[in-house]
Amino acid sequence: MAANKKLLVLPGDGIGPEVMRETIRVIDWMDRKRRASFDLQDDLVGGAAIDQKGTPITEETVARAKAADAVLFGSVGGPKWEKLGFDMRPELSILTLRRELGLFANLRPAIVLDPLVNASTLKPEVVQGLDIMIVRESTGGIYFGEPRGIETLADGSQRGINTEVYTTMEIERVARVGFELARKRQSRVCSVEKANVMESGLLWRQVVTRLAAAEYPDIALSHMYADNCAMQLVRNPRQFDVIVTGNLFGDILSDLASMLTGSLGMLPSATLGAPDASGRRHALYEPIHGSAPDIAGKGVANPLAQMLSFAMLLRYSFDMEEDAALIEKACTNVLASGLRTPDVMAPGCAKVGTTVMGEAVLRELDKLAT
Ligand code: IPM
Ligand code: MG
Repeated sequence: MAANKKLLVLPGDGIGPEVMRETIRVIDWMDRKRRASFDLQDDLVGGAAIDQKGTPITEETVARAKAADAVLFGSVGGPKWEKLGFDMRPELSILTLRRELGLFANLRPAIVLDPLVNASTLKPEVVQGLDIMIVRESTGGIYFGEPRGIETLADGSQRGINTEVYTTMEIERVARVGFELARKRQSRVCSVEKANVMESGLLWRQVVTRLAAAEYPDIALSHMYADNCAMQLVRNPRQFDVIVTGNLFGDILSDLASMLTGSLGMLPSATLGAPDASGRRHALYEPIHGSAPDIAGKGVANPLAQMLSFAMLLRYSFDMEEDAALIEKACTNVLASGLRTPDVMAPGCAKVGTTVMGEAVLRELDKLAT
């Protein structure tokens, strides 16, 4: 048996704890049935941490995240904490983890599973077989750039400021992640910015072009302005393989792309740091759906995105491709069998809640593993 893998589990707020509970059962299953063994530690983040510790994330939690092999994150936020200042928002917990752990590459796959092809608001013939990977830069750009703030002008009116800023190093390292991923896929990368209006975008384009020529001649690189990319994602999403883009455009385009698949409740993500000399890297895995306060506590949340985030964790942090694929297959099979949480409900399917969905995945895992 391999050495214990240390995971920090941060369920957070809203539906986070509900979907995490089902995912822990999958982790336990892996522990029992496969060659992996996990040490789980859990902790508070987001609103839960604000309520109990007076801050969205404590320094101890950040230290635990640094010490762990990987972080499995749920979701944070909710109406209860919406009025708090920027230094007290639940969202600060995820931003702090990205910054403190140097998690600069946010991988957001948008995949249309066959059983869900009709869940998309787009026509099935447009999205069938869709498999895009968005690589979003996640520790730079306008999210973190200085100067920032709200200042009061001489006439008493105010001015809000944020700064989009990217350095050669920041662009290169995230582009590299995109190029490496593309090599394992269809070898196509589309780099997205606004080089027509922004200097940071122009530099982005120049750096990516140079890197591709020097190190990735086997990759077909294209460039697109972010607004056009939004349009193309809806018009003909299958033209894309890997998209590499900055923090803000990636935030927006990845929400857009996720909805091509029909449900936010289905999509996982990974956020990776740079590997150290031993190849070890910080990494955080989270569903992209957020805390969904409107359905929290009702037992109807879809646990699949959280489970699929754990599958990504196996793949990217531990190179356990076979086990990752097993979980993905189990999730697809359960959907194909006609079980659906309300977010992906379709005519002729059986509507179930979070726990029943979780149990179905465990049964399917048992079946697949024998
Ligand atoms: C995301 C979210 C976050 C972001 C928020 C919660 C800070 O929207 O992960 O896409 O804007 O990055
Ligand atoms: Mg977002």
